[in-house]
Amino acid sequence: MAAATDLLTYRDEVASCTRCPLAQGRTQVVFGSGDPAADLMFVGEAPGFHEDKQGVPFVGAAGKLLDQLLGGIGLTRADVYVANVLKCRPPGNRDPQPEEIEACEAHLWHQIELIRPRVVATLGNFATKLLSGKPTGITRVHGQEQETTLGGRRVLLYPLYHPAAALYTPRMLEVLQMDFARIPELLGREPEPPIEQHAAPVGAEPAVQLGLF
Ligand code: URA
Repeated sequence: MAAATDLLTYRDEVASCTRCPLAQGRTQVVFGSGDPAADLMFVGEAPGFHEDKQGVPFVGAAGKLLDQLLGGIGLTRADVYVANVLKCRPPGNRDPQPEEIEACEAHLWHQIELIRPRVVATLGNFATKLLSGKPTGITRVHGQEQETTLGGRRVLLYPLYHPAAALYTPRMLEVLQMDFARIPELLGREPEPPIEQHAAPVGAEPAVQLGLF
């Protein structure tokens, strides 16, 4: 319960964030939503038009697909936590810039620390590269779980295609569905004992070196 309260307190703090210029164009910060003690956390890219207006991640077309994919494995949005690499909408939904990711990433690390998920599923390239600390793109790593330390705890990092990319590409949607189907098995795995504390994964590289733009 303490973590839930701490997450709400942190959400209130982040609501007035001015760490990067995206603060000027936003309607509101899109912090994240779902179960504050979820075993399964999803990390997307950045809020879009609808998310910026409603203050909730993944409420547009990609969000509807995410809901369907979750339904396919017997879960709802209330069972998981969903957040993004960036908490504010980039103008015109352009890609996140390295300096924006650098300014915002501490928010995501702290969310992971408080939520303490067992599986972190990254949606698309930006979240995957940031949380894996490696520049390898999603096409090569999707569906391949990796044990790593995030927010000071051992987690399974599970890269997935971004639902927005799968919306209009049937083959990608098939792959995303197949990768989703493995999530229950990953959630059922015995957690590794915690090892040393790291704010970021060992070997994490600055956003520029990760080829995040
Ligand atoms: N795409 C994202 O990556 N995040 C959202 O919140 C919505 C669309």
